[in-house]
Amino acid sequence: MKIYKTQAEIQRYINAKRSLSIGFVPTMGALHDGHLSLVNKALIENELCVVSIFVNPTQFDNPNDLKKYPRTLQKDASLLQTVSDKVLIYAPNATDLYGSEIKSRHFKFGPIAKEMEGAFRHGHFDGVGTVVSLLFDAVKPSSAYFGEKDFQQLQIIKKLVQIEKYNIQIVGCDIVRERNGLAKSSRNTRLSEKQFDEAALIYKTLKEVKQKWGSISISSINEYVKKVFKQHNGLELEYFVIANEATLKTVKRKRNTNTYRAFIVVFSGEVRLIDNLSLGQG
Ligand code: PAJ
Repeated sequence: MKIYKTQAEIQRYINAKRSLSIGFVPTMGALHDGHLSLVNKALIENELCVVSIFVNPTQFDNPNDLKKYPRTLQKDASLLQTVSDKVLIYAPNATDLYGSEIKSRHFKFGPIAKEMEGAFRHGHFDGVGTVVSLLFDAVKPSSAYFGEKDFQQLQIIKKLVQIEKYNIQIVGCDIVRERNGLAKSSRNTRLSEKQFDEAALIYKTLKEVKQKWGSISISSINEYVKKVFKQHNGLELEYFVIANEATLKTVKRKRNTNTYRAFIVVFSGEVRLIDNLSLGQG
């Protein structure tokens, strides 16, 4: 499988295929079935699929997380080769994508960027917005595919498209899970077998939250989740929030007309695990 390393190379290829619709899947590599579900959806809806693989330095607020992020380009290429010959990889280096200054632009994403990941990971969404806009400019896709696992990121990208007036359709894709319920993630490879098993508690708790949703108050649910993780030594709760799905604002009391979603971040040792589950209406 050909790996395009520069904008010039990929643009030459894409310009020659201008008449074809291009589905784009931006990733940071260490590909798993979650990423592949995006690729498969892109292939159903488009004639070509471009997968970018780039570990973006500007979206990491933790240098250790950036350093330890798995980088497995050759393995990723072999995996994509088994999917389809209509997939190609764009794996630039930082200078090719950013030019000589590797830094974030500042975007006015509004209130959605201030909640959850925006509050806990400083500058994260400016980093994501910057790299995704550079990638969109390089690949010029018809549609781009993002997972609901990073639900807030998906909303940010929809806002980015509005702000920058891109003519790109943004498609959200369901969360793919391990057999024990843990959301698939490139970071899961950093978990020991014991940590991997323990991390099943995250999705188990989200499902319990959904069960309790109809019958008890939001504050009781919040207390319940805190208690579950306090009782568990191996997992540390960073945040649990029930939010309005449209505004991403934390809610204290539900209204029947709104749709809600539970969001959670848990550390297993140094590994940060993120997940969410739709709760439906209030
Ligand atoms: P990365 O974590 O590699 O994820 C790439 C895409 O795959 C994202 O849209 C993410 O939501 C989706 N994804 C990851 N795990 C998934 C799962 N278990 N089920 C469904 N989709 C899943 O997200 C990023 O990279 C970066 O922030 C990026 C957008 C590439 C910008 O650098």
